[in-house]
Amino acid sequence: MRTLEFPEGFLFGTATAAYQVEGAWNEDGKAPSVWDGFVRRRGKIWMGQTGETAVDHYHRYLEDVALMKALGTNAYRFSVSWPRVMPDGRGRINAAGLDFYSRLVDSLLGAGIAPLVTLYHWDLPQRLQDLGGLESRDFPLRFADYAEAMARALGDRVGEWITLNEPWVNAVSGYLLGDHAPGRHNPWATLRVLHNLLLANAAGYGALKSVRASARVGLSLSVIPIYPRTAGARDREAARLVDQFVNDLVLDALCRGAYPAELAARMRVIWPRIRPGDMETVRGKYDFLGVNTYTRERAYAAPLVPFLGAWMTGRYPDGKERVENGVQFTSMGWEVFPRGIYEALMKVKERCGNPPVYVTENGAAFHDAVRDGEIRDLARIRYLHDYLEMVHRARSDGADVRGYFVWTLLDNFEWAFGFSKRFGLVYVDHATQKRTVKASGRWYRELATTRRIPPAEVPNGSRAE
Ligand code: NOJ
Repeated sequence: MRTLEFPEGFLFGTATAAYQVEGAWNEDGKAPSVWDGFVRRRGKIWMGQTGETAVDHYHRYLEDVALMKALGTNAYRFSVSWPRVMPDGRGRINAAGLDFYSRLVDSLLGAGIAPLVTLYHWDLPQRLQDLGGLESRDFPLRFADYAEAMARALGDRVGEWITLNEPWVNAVSGYLLGDHAPGRHNPWATLRVLHNLLLANAAGYGALKSVRASARVGLSLSVIPIYPRTAGARDREAARLVDQFVNDLVLDALCRGAYPAELAARMRVIWPRIRPGDMETVRGKYDFLGVNTYTRERAYAAPLVPFLGAWMTGRYPDGKERVENGVQFTSMGWEVFPRGIYEALMKVKERCGNPPVYVTENGAAFHDAVRDGEIRDLARIRYLHDYLEMVHRARSDGADVRGYFVWTLLDNFEWAFGFSKRFGLVYVDHATQKRTVKASGRWYRELATTRRIPPAEVPNGSRAE
């Protein structure tokens, strides 16, 4: 069999986000984020868990950088906690908070690992929330100030920046479905928030570039292939509309400077006010796009759903890990569908004129068992193997994919699911914070060090620690 090889310079990394790993939620002058409040609301998080300690990365970052090195990775995507470095969300810098990221960046560089810094991965400073948060038209200005401060502090050592993580998920989960902070159910706010986020990306892009013209700036988007639930005409029409809402809404705004007209007409009652010049501002403000993709969804006609008349199967039908008719579902209840990553990458290639792309998140949660100190997570290896084959295929078919980041380095706080979902290449015992490299971590090391996709089996040989 032909072994598939990635080119020299291709980034093989892992990804995390501040609230999911850091802990130290109120240390060294950090102020609360919207997530610090949200996790305390009854019934919002599995078993009432919080990310207050998370996996204690704030204190264990040196051990974690050593793990990244042991995994053979040459890049790391992490996010900065805005309220850690700017407790009020604006103005005053908290030197102790900033120092953490400065030390983290230095240790990464010392280990030969390139930092990709996400500025905003959903943990908005509560003090900005109190001033209207993402709903406020001031948000892009606030974000630009923050981005500028970060560029001044880290721009001498960080070459690549991700302004925002998954703006669509942030807006829809935070303001429509209410399963993420700030837990609203307000369709009128949802699209306003999304529009403000895209304006913020543009403002942040400009701010970073004004400090460092050489900075490379992008943003991470959720891209989800949408299939009709049945072959019937109504479900096919539903899939077309849901695809517009879930994917094209953001892609077209960023890449073409226009929201899908059909969607705007359908949703006119809740459509945000778009000022003259906004769409030119939004358009094209990226040097690369980050693609986060995991599974596919199935759409169906749903006459009771306002505006769309369509919806998609819950992303978490019952959250059960299982094999059904030969198809694997992860412990999130997400279908393993390797072709989906190919389709996501080709969609971005086609709709956006083939920009440079990083897969900034891909991976799978499974109920990992520890036996004799080993985690033989074959299902995750199979997942990574099959998805990476498809990344390779997308490259062969012309998509300009330059790197791949596994979600995630360590089992961590999976938002509303607390610690019940394990996505890591490294197992974390949440009682002791002990880290153990899983078999998938050793498999990934083989990939990252040879740039060739190893067979989908538990690797032989010594442990990666
Ligand atoms: C999307 C998010 O960016 C990340 O925070 C989350 O943990 C993973 N996907 C898995 O759900």
